[in-house]
Amino acid sequence: MASTNMQPAAAGYKDEFDKILPVKPIPGSYGTPVITPIKDRLDFYYFQGQDKYFQSRADKYKSTVVRINVPPGPTMASDPRVIALLDAKTFPVLFDVSKVEKKDVFTGTYMPSTSLTGGYRVCSYLDPSESNHTKIKQLLFTLLASRKDQVIPTFRTNFGALFATMESQVSSSGKSDFNALNDATSFDFLGDAYFGVIPSKTALGSTGPTKASKWLLFQLAPLTSLGLPMVVEELFLHTFPLPPLLARSDYKALYDYFSSAAASALDTAETQLGLSRDEACHNLLFATVFNSYGGMKVLLPGILSWLAKADPTLHARLATEIRGAVAKAGGKVTLEAVQSMELTLSVVYEALRMDPPVKFQYGHAKKDLVIEGYDAKYAVKRGEMLFGYQPMATRDAKVFGETAAQFVGDRFVGSEGRKLLKYVVWSNGPETESPSVSNKQCPGKDLVVLVGRLLVVDFFLRYDTFTAEVGQELLGAKVVVTSLTKATS
Ligand code: HEM
Repeated sequence: MASTNMQPAAAGYKDEFDKILPVKPIPGSYGTPVITPIKDRLDFYYFQGQDKYFQSRADKYKSTVVRINVPPGPTMASDPRVIALLDAKTFPVLFDVSKVEKKDVFTGTYMPSTSLTGGYRVCSYLDPSESNHTKIKQLLFTLLASRKDQVIPTFRTNFGALFATMESQVSSSGKSDFNALNDATSFDFLGDAYFGVIPSKTALGSTGPTKASKWLLFQLAPLTSLGLPMVVEELFLHTFPLPPLLARSDYKALYDYFSSAAASALDTAETQLGLSRDEACHNLLFATVFNSYGGMKVLLPGILSWLAKADPTLHARLATEIRGAVAKAGGKVTLEAVQSMELTLSVVYEALRMDPPVKFQYGHAKKDLVIEGYDAKYAVKRGEMLFGYQPMATRDAKVFGETAAQFVGDRFVGSEGRKLLKYVVWSNGPETESPSVSNKQCPGKDLVVLVGRLLVVDFFLRYDTFTAEVGQELLGAKVVVTSLTKATS
């Protein structure tokens, strides 16, 4: 199809809403099949970059609801055409599972081979209407609830060792690569927190993070650029899937860790939830390695990068808040103490708002819909793919005002600040709502916000301030710490 004229008749929606906003056709164009999607993919990776790719199309059509192609396109994805929702008002349609179907859309317009996940469609690819979604999500809720008291101690032990290494690297060579340390530490922390078994102390040794990253690349290659020459990436990453066979032995080693370390959770899955042990194990692996580890790889350097770029007075205010709350709790980092730290929490939310670690969300319209934007209503046909580029929704100036594109550490402090929390949607839902078996909101929501705070807490218990070089890598920020000023009070 050369360009889009797929609009349902607007008149059919006339009576459904008040008359204030007109129903308009969705602007945009998909261009010439095959050629335009490939050209768009090159814009996305090499000529414009993500932010400019979406912003320039919104500018061109003077609309934040727009028909565009998304990568990877041919031949990886059979249909790259989406309706992009690029503002805070329309984006939440993607959370409403009565309106959108979330089946097989976790990675968007293509789906990695299920031979990378033991032959199963794991939870992230299931729509809540599928019965296994309920069982698997319940398994994760049960696991996280049963281990909630382990999060603070296991975080502190594992990241305490990270900070010690970071200090010695900074003093010996003047710099420390936080991402490298975080990869190894987050992997161990998650195994320790979820199952009480530190992966590096098992047969996996220190290979877990490398094996995990390789397996992640096999699934995410179509959406990534590794900085290799364009022709190489186009052929090997963006056009054909990497052969799953090449990741099989790494996956098997990860699976072996889970089938032994997660034995008790697997018992629960079998006896209480009616899941097969094998399906449950592949799901626990995916939730831990893809969802949790993949998330921590991006989130924690992201938080540190914003702190590194912030005014040092923010460091001083955080240190005062954190040390005061811990002193009040008798010198201990308790959950209650962490919960009383309003500025620390706001900093974590602000990092999640500025740079949501998972930037793309997708869903097929379950029925004919009318989506209400700021200036118009838009008719969408059943089966059309809706897509959201989250940073444009969470940096929307209509909600966050003239500082929308800036990091404001105390944005969410106080009752006025808290009113903005419904627009923080990194978890695939508003921060004011909760994940359940009947929605697609991230079951790790509370854990993630706690872990983000624990990083800030432990950091400013040890240091007054720091400096770092901040750059960009595959999935998010790259942080190289260059100086640490030890706590003086
Ligand atoms: C779903 C983000 C950590 C497990 C999601 C989704 C997002 C997200 C955006 C929805 C994807 C979609 O359907 O479009 C994140 C981020 C994390 C994180 C940014 C860390 C920084 C975790 C953790 C767990 C987890 C710690 C551990 C249990 C899941 C699962 C789903 C999911 C199982 C699918 C939910 C469902 O099918 O209803 N996450 N997540 N995630 N997340 Fe997380």
